[in-house]
Amino acid sequence: MADMDKLVSLCKRRGYIFQSSEIYGGMSACWDYGPLGVELKRNIKEAWWNANVRDRDDMVGLDCSILMHRAVWAASGHEEGFSDPLQDCKACHQRWRGDDVTGGKCPACGGELTEPRMFNLMFKTFAGPVEEEAATVYLRPETAQGIFVNFANVLDTTRKRLPFGIAQIGKAFRNEITTGNFIFRCREFEQMEIEYFVKPGSDDEWFKFWVEQRYNWYINLGIKKENLKLREHSKEDLAHYARACTDVEYLFPMGWSELEGIANRTDFDLKQHAEHSGRELTYFDPETNERYVPYVIEPSAGVDRAALAFLADAYDEETVKGETRVVLRLHRDIAPVKVAILPLSKNEKLVPKAREVHTAVRKCFPSMYDDTQSIGRRYRRQDEIGTPYTVTVDFDTLEDNAVTIRERDSMKQIRVPVAELAGTLQRKLDGEAMEVLPPGGRYWSGFEEES
Ligand code: GAP
Repeated sequence: MADMDKLVSLCKRRGYIFQSSEIYGGMSACWDYGPLGVELKRNIKEAWWNANVRDRDDMVGLDCSILMHRAVWAASGHEEGFSDPLQDCKACHQRWRGDDVTGGKCPACGGELTEPRMFNLMFKTFAGPVEEEAATVYLRPETAQGIFVNFANVLDTTRKRLPFGIAQIGKAFRNEITTGNFIFRCREFEQMEIEYFVKPGSDDEWFKFWVEQRYNWYINLGIKKENLKLREHSKEDLAHYARACTDVEYLFPMGWSELEGIANRTDFDLKQHAEHSGRELTYFDPETNERYVPYVIEPSAGVDRAALAFLADAYDEETVKGETRVVLRLHRDIAPVKVAILPLSKNEKLVPKAREVHTAVRKCFPSMYDDTQSIGRRYRRQDEIGTPYTVTVDFDTLEDNAVTIRERDSMKQIRVPVAELAGTLQRKLDGEAMEVLPPGGRYWSGFEEES
């Protein structure tokens, strides 16, 4: 498990994540994803979309605008109630979220705190040129409401039968009082949300189904079982509209915290929007000839929190030949670069051959070419960014037209004909063991691991 400082430092050093507006001193709780971070995030979102939309007959996608009619937030209850209690320390003037304060004293200096006052977390702005109350709009604090207000549109256009779900990935904004812990709690972040509509009475069963599905999604992408757990909310902890809620918690570097929440939101949201908009948001069940308001199961995950969990879980240090090897053991599906092509040296005959190999490989996988520094150092660099396989082009390649493939996790190497390279890499990226050789392949003692 990584400590947070090491993780933040690796992310900056290797181009995963930068502080927003860094050259101006930084913007608190906002982060920029660099060349590797953007690929990681895309892979996480792709894995989520594939598992929850493309691979299922009962799901469709949606992409709503961030700015919505103000009435949406009145109906959902956010305008009135999406608030955190805020307390100031009278001595050191630090601000605290009421939930983070125990014993009524400032957690930093022990000073006296002001009475809690409620602070709405929605960012406000104005639509149009006039900055007046009537032009107020909010940046959405969750993607979920866009799904509820499009329920009838999706139902009418897809003719889906219950149970079915609508999925959305997109930005959300919250003016968080306390921030920190890197990308764990940001003011601008991305959510991956599902609203799964079911017949009332079948909701408990579907709630259980989605808790299991979502837990397994993280495990299937390599998160260690000992770092993931489910936490059921007690009846007193539940939001007023929820019948049940379970969090998927991860053992982040700062301790166990929420990674994703799965809630049974009942028919609360559809009923609220029906009442406020005057539109009927019901479902006609052709099997029973009944019309009713569906119940909703909502698995709601954060892309940034998932990225932090995957990075923290993958981080590893080990000693190899007396040196520390830092390796990100990212699952191959979410690793930003799948393959790196490395000529053994910058020799004028090797470089064109290595470029030729890279040209062939990059058509099949996100790949990188690197011919700087010693081969050992380049292995380390790829280990540190989590590249599952490196391919080395050496002087023998010019004779036998074969290259070596090195596996990041085991550092095992095999030698394969160039003609077999793309196919072999594809099978390895699909999970084939390194020991399985293609035609003409053989085991290889390996190039120097020292940097
Ligand atoms: N629609 C339900 C909803 O938004 P939530 O528990 O407030 O529920 C769901 O948020 C998920 O969104 C969280 O589990 C977390 O992964 C992510 N999330 C929420 N606030 C966040 C923040 N300030 N920064 C990063 N991720 C956040």
